[in-house]
Amino acid sequence: MIVIEKAKEMQQYSESLRNRGKKVAFVPTMGYLHRGHLRLMEEGRKLGDCLVTSIYVNPTQFGPTEDLAKYPRDFEMDSRLCEGVGVDAIYFPSNDEMYPLHYQTYVDLQVVTQNLCGLSRPGHFRGVATVCAKLFNLVKPHVAVFGKKDFQQLVVIKRMVTDLNLDLEIVGLDTVREADGLAMSSRNIYLKPDERESALSLSRGLKKAKGMYDKGERDAAAIIDAVSRFIGGHPHAKIDYVNICDTTTMKDVARLDGESVMALAVRVGVARLIDNYVFGETLNV
Ligand code: PAJ
Repeated sequence: MIVIEKAKEMQQYSESLRNRGKKVAFVPTMGYLHRGHLRLMEEGRKLGDCLVTSIYVNPTQFGPTEDLAKYPRDFEMDSRLCEGVGVDAIYFPSNDEMYPLHYQTYVDLQVVTQNLCGLSRPGHFRGVATVCAKLFNLVKPHVAVFGKKDFQQLVVIKRMVTDLNLDLEIVGLDTVREADGLAMSSRNIYLKPDERESALSLSRGLKKAKGMYDKGERDAAAIIDAVSRFIGGHPHAKIDYVNICDTTTMKDVARLDGESVMALAVRVGVARLIDNYVFGETLNV
């Protein structure tokens, strides 16, 4: 496994793979890897002849009051884990490499970024779309693997790839959870032991929503109300949003007629946790 820090080197590495007819698979991450990330890498391993991952805590997707400086980092641990799942190359750029002096180009999507995390984290998806567009041009993958845990992010990336005719396939994988149902996240280390029960209100709330849907409930407000009351009843949980949206536009829906997703963002202590459930699918909680 090699570690590449320079943009030109990354492009040359991928170009040489492509010239030899190899299929390049890519998993972008911000590091501090857990089993969710590793699951994406295992899939990437199967989808391509070569697997590239990136580890880069992208400053443009963090708001001024967010946890950019505190975001957990452990490159030694990450590289060992990458090696273990058969990563061929880690792209590990510096901020100067990604956003040099005079940098001024950003990718902005319209409708799909205007709800949920786009509302509560202004500018977040502009940063995500921009860094992913740059990473796709650097790594030149045939296929990139993302997690459905960040459902709106996956919709944004798929939309951008379609709209800008980017020449790669995007694959989305199910959320990997802890044994108790908590969605794996690098930010779970912020949780104190007494906050764990409140953190579980997200996955349990989604299970409640699934139960109502399976019994025939199709009124979004009824499900949102029940889930909000359930999560709100937990001492450390402060709801950021509880919405039901159309999976293509990410706009709120009143009735669950087309494909819709329940999306949750909840603050538990200093951790901001997200989770979601696409109605009609299985839920591994
Ligand atoms: P990060 O939060 O490190 O996540 C990297 C990838 O892992 C994303 O595709 C995310 O959806 C996926 N992932 C996270 N937790 C998961 C879980 N429990 N199960 C399955 N997949 C999971 O998302 C980002 O980084 C950044 O926004 C990035 C796309 C790298 C751009 O900076």
